[in-house]
Amino acid sequence: MAILRAVVKWIIVLCFAIFCIQYWLDHKSFVFSHDEIAAITKNHIGSSAEKSFQNVLKELRQKYRGHILPDKDLQWIFMNAGGWMGQMYVVHASLTEYLLFFGTAIETTGHSGRYWANISDTVLTGTFRQWHEGQLTYKTYKPGETVYHYWGEATAVSWTDNTWMVEYGRGFIPSTLGFALSDTFFSTQDYLSLFYILRIYAKALLQEGGFYFIELKDYLKQAL
Ligand SMILES: *[C@@H]1O[C@H](CO)[C@@H](O)[C@H](O)[C@H]1NC(C)=O
Repeated sequence: MAILRAVVKWIIVLCFAIFCIQYWLDHKSFVFSHDEIAAITKNHIGSSAEKSFQNVLKELRQKYRGHILPDKDLQWIFMNAGGWMGQMYVVHASLTEYLLFFGTAIETTGHSGRYWANISDTVLTGTFRQWHEGQLTYKTYKPGETVYHYWGEATAVSWTDNTWMVEYGRGFIPSTLGFALSDTFFSTQDYLSLFYILRIYAKALLQEGGFYFIELKDYLKQAL
């Protein structure tokens, strides 16, 4: 009986937390938008992904002052999840948004993950193939095109050699970490990469923390 009561109590707490987070997501303002990031990325499609990333980063720094991580913190990090392997370069992350460069030099395929977040990828080079649940054919995306992955959706994803893109995610970002870290934790056991991922997320949260503080101060000023 006591166990049942405890389980029910935790389910109620969990539902309440989910409700609160959802309310927050529906009412808060965001730093970036899917359309803005896709437009900025498309401005810089060229011959090499490296050059494109440099130029995208430059434009991001101008447009979103203070929200992009400093150069000394930026690094490419291996990411294993859903059976695929890629590398990511996180330039911004908070509790509700992330922005990163992503891709692979060697073709790779796997499960997209099912998230409490909407994710968009704008392709710079290569090919992104997305196969939706319930469909018998896949869709192919080329440079300049944006691939959307809505929350709750699962797809199969496949990238050819040298596919690179800019990815923006908006939702409850900590909830995506379970999938993002799963293969690193349980399969590759590459704890150095795991450490890099957690370290960059911690740094990004600290940087954004300052903005939350300013927001809260403004809010309290208005309320009083
Ligand atoms: C995710 O996309 C859906 C469908 O467009 C939308 O209703 C929802 O508000 C989006 N969520 C966030 C956090 O942007």
